[in-house]
Amino acid sequence: MNLKERIEAVEAEIAASDATSPEAVEAFRVGMLGRNGKVTALLDAFKEVPAEEKRAWGQRLNQLKNAARVRWEELKAQAETTPVDKGPEVDLTRPALTEHTGSLHPISIVRQRIVDVFARIGYTVSQGPEVEDEHHNFGALNFPPDHPARDMQDTFFVQELVSANEEQKRQDLALRTHTSSVQVRVMEGGTPPIRTISPGRVYRNEAISARAHCMFHQVEGLYVDKGVSFAELKGTLDYFAKSIFGPEVKIRLRPSYFPFTEPSAEVDMSCTICGGSGCAVCKHSGWVEIMGCGMVDPAVLTNCGIDPEVYSGFAFGMGVERVAQLIYRVPDLRLYWENDVRFLDQFTDGAFRG
Ligand code: PHE
Repeated sequence: MNLKERIEAVEAEIAASDATSPEAVEAFRVGMLGRNGKVTALLDAFKEVPAEEKRAWGQRLNQLKNAARVRWEELKAQAETTPVDKGPEVDLTRPALTEHTGSLHPISIVRQRIVDVFARIGYTVSQGPEVEDEHHNFGALNFPPDHPARDMQDTFFVQELVSANEEQKRQDLALRTHTSSVQVRVMEGGTPPIRTISPGRVYRNEAISARAHCMFHQVEGLYVDKGVSFAELKGTLDYFAKSIFGPEVKIRLRPSYFPFTEPSAEVDMSCTICGGSGCAVCKHSGWVEIMGCGMVDPAVLTNCGIDPEVYSGFAFGMGVERVAQLIYRVPDLRLYWENDVRFLDQFTDGAFRG
């Protein structure tokens, strides 16, 4: 490249420069007019020019140097007036946006806690259908044919269409009234030792109020093996109550009746609200009822194909809502079903112990 071409190339570069940031503008100045800049290099080359041409090249190079200066001044002025992009405006005084993460339903939290407590001592989890036949819900469990629990008042019957032509209905299906029906299925389908719990939704034809609902959740438990004793039942329930409600809690058993257990008992727990001294929740008795239990009636074992001469077992059943109520002290059962997020938001696993 001769001197003319070199001058033209640098001129073009000066014209094309579009530095916008102060740093880029300074780099332009150094690159052109600095000690090793391109314009400076050409001025140095001027020394080599023969004497008779010096005048002409001198003018030309002065023009170039001025062009570089002018362009630099322009770019500098532009950079100073161009606002620096600092990203979106952040107003640190504004209230923070809270991220809504959702939470488990309190009944799910409590059910899972109950399941975990029994899983730790070797219980499996069993499930069965919510639309159940009379055999599994009642018959195999020793409910006599005229037992009031079978009554239309307590049970939601489901009519199954047997024949489309005659519109003939069958009446032997129902929404299960307890998850004992699952235990019948487990016993029918397996051989002892059986150690299982059945959590699930159950239905009873009751008027909805603060204290009752037509559907709720149960966790029922069953243990069948050789030589299972009532003492083991009591020990298991004591372990359960202490695991869920704390080591200071006591249980007591009161004789009761269920068609499928003999002997049967209601399980009371020392009131967690007042510690046993008496309050409105325990109706000043110091005790609250938490579940039913008993030794599996030999007739039920026989119904399910298990020899009662060889095996014995115990069973228990509790309402998840009842346990949740004692933990969270929610006075009205209906709240668990209304799905109001202002209610549901208050429950997290961490707050489980109230
Ligand atoms: N199935 C009973 C109920 O629903 C509870 C229960 C289970 C009682 C096992 C005793 C033994 O109320």
